[in-house]
Amino acid sequence: IKAAIFISGRGSNMMALVEAAKAPDFPAEFVLVVSNDPHASGLEWAAAHGLKTFALDHKPYGKDREAHERLIDAELRGNGVEFICLAGYMRVLTPWLVQQWEGKMINIHPALLPDFKGLHTHERALEAGVIEHGATVHWVSSGVDEGEIIAQARVPVLEGDTADMLATRVLAEEHRLYAQAVRQVLAEKFLTKM
Ligand code: GRF
Repeated sequence: IKAAIFISGRGSNMMALVEAAKAPDFPAEFVLVVSNDPHASGLEWAAAHGLKTFALDHKPYGKDREAHERLIDAELRGNGVEFICLAGYMRVLTPWLVQQWEGKMINIHPALLPDFKGLHTHERALEAGVIEHGATVHWVSSGVDEGEIIAQARVPVLEGDTADMLATRVLAEEHRLYAQAVRQVLAEKFLTKM
């Protein structure tokens, strides 16, 4: 199944997915990396690894989010993309794009949803004094970080943890979790097609 990865920055989850896709039994072929920021550092890595990239700055579109997303959608379809992995994509999608890709788009969030939706999840977890934290891969629905959960990874919050230490611990799990979640959902899709 041809898939795209959406990034806005470093793209470490993208890197982990691309690496995982080297396995012969991986159910997705990543054919495109999309970014809303032409300066996203992950784009260089993607190009250097032979991936096609499509960077479309969202700023010139101002409030017209849909116009921006329609161009991205056209690029996706032009490349035969059938599945989307959002990975550190820092834009709230319009209901239009979510609807276009209903059941074909997943996201990774650095918290144990439904806890800590939104931003700054590690700081908030420390603030809340939770002893367990982690990451979630979920289907994308119109509510931000609201979609049905696919898989989660848990890490302990340790004495003296800073947000950075916690983020690092979670990120390592994200890299493992995302590839596992893609295998999980695409294997199921593949089987239902059998
Ligand atoms: C990660 O914590 C991910 O969970 C969140 O954004 C962060 C960016 O990671 N969505 P990267 O760009 O994949 O390194």
